[in-house]
Amino acid sequence: MTEILEAAGRALIRQGALINGAWVQAQSRLEISEPATGRVLGSVPDLAPSQVAQAIHAAQAAQRPWAQSPPSVRSAILEQWNDLILAQAEALGALLALENGKPLAEAIGEIRYAASFVHWFAQEALRLDGDVIATSRAGERIITLKEAVGVVGAITPWNFPAAMITRKAAPALAAGCTIVLKPAPQTPFTALALAALALEAGLPPGALHILTGDSAMIGAALTASPLVRKISFTGSTAVGRALAQAAAGGLQRVSLELGGAAPLIVFDDADLEKAVAGAIAAKFRNAGQTCVCPNRIYAQAGIFERFVARFAQEVGALKVGAPFEPGVQIGPLISQAGLLKVEAHVAQARASGAQLVTGGARSDASGRFFQPTVTAGGDDRLFREEETFGPYAPVFRFADEAQVIEAANATPYGLAAYVFTENGARQWRMASALEAGVIGINTGITSSALNPFGGMKQSGYGREGSRYGMEDFIAVKSITFTP
Ligand code: SIN
Repeated sequence: MTEILEAAGRALIRQGALINGAWVQAQSRLEISEPATGRVLGSVPDLAPSQVAQAIHAAQAAQRPWAQSPPSVRSAILEQWNDLILAQAEALGALLALENGKPLAEAIGEIRYAASFVHWFAQEALRLDGDVIATSRAGERIITLKEAVGVVGAITPWNFPAAMITRKAAPALAAGCTIVLKPAPQTPFTALALAALALEAGLPPGALHILTGDSAMIGAALTASPLVRKISFTGSTAVGRALAQAAAGGLQRVSLELGGAAPLIVFDDADLEKAVAGAIAAKFRNAGQTCVCPNRIYAQAGIFERFVARFAQEVGALKVGAPFEPGVQIGPLISQAGLLKVEAHVAQARASGAQLVTGGARSDASGRFFQPTVTAGGDDRLFREEETFGPYAPVFRFADEAQVIEAANATPYGLAAYVFTENGARQWRMASALEAGVIGINTGITSSALNPFGGMKQSGYGREGSRYGMEDFIAVKSITFTP
């Protein structure tokens, strides 16, 4: 373990996987490095298949007793978990910033966002009410019960090392499921620290397991096990599709939060400052590495020049640097491959006629940071099909509403979309016309524990957060009582 990692909060650091309440080790280990510097932060066990099986069995053994505990007990444990996370928000944020690279303030913000799911679902645990239904036979009643689906296998991404853990674990646990979770190989420490706090909050040992190791092996074990009744995944469309195919064998329930190629649309009648601020907030969060980041910005002909100039001015002023540098707004890319993709997208846009307005190159010799970049014009087709996942915003010109709706929807994806217009009728028309699960009107930030989050088309299915976030973890049982 390095001193860097220790500085992030010694008490929170776990370099073992969590199986049945114990921190377990394995014969081989995987090193975790800091995206900002490449330094090794520490390591986690590369679990053997038998250890993964052990976790699944322990989750199965714990599931019934956990589901049978009163909802008020589950709720109180989750509330306690929420309190512990909030009490440690700064140390957890530092850990997250180290392994993910996002600026410290943003990382602490993510910890609070993560806690908000725990609090929300602690409350939802208390509202698992069923129905009483009168049938056509005199005196007969159907009663419905909402029961936990069973053991959940969850796989989470590196871009939100805390919030994607709690957005899955909290509703699963609130519903009475137990959960075997594999965090992203790049960012396991935040997940392990959150799990340590869950145990401290009183979660029974078998209720939450955190597995580290080979992603393909763990994913295959989760989808092959008849004990796992549901798979919940956030990540790429390619991996989501493979998991759904594997889960089909055992008819496991699946929910998938996958990639997007979000459009952000600025109409002539938009408030320019609102649109610029919204576009910055949406696009440059986590250095552009979120599934809901706009991948392509469309500005109408009458505002195009003004929008590009103001937007590029603000983008050019964003401070790039390592997460702990004061005032930093844009951290490193998670990997070299991530950086190369951003570079390739800028080059392809320019080759299609786009004009470079700001940025466009690596920010330093290390090859970990990329300048926040804006281009204007060129061909938008690449950006309908492929997520850039980096700090690059291409802006395209459009003539009218019909044209932009067609362009916005001409993508296999449908996760997020953003519209900036002061025309109320147009706001409603756009909200209805856009094929996306999450829409922001005059805002670039839609993230909230209260908001049903999820996609359409190849961005996946299922909803997380909000009152819908419990549904995928619940099976409705009906009982008919005949007098
Ligand atoms: C994501 O991009 O995967 C999650 C974004 C959010 O929750 O805000």
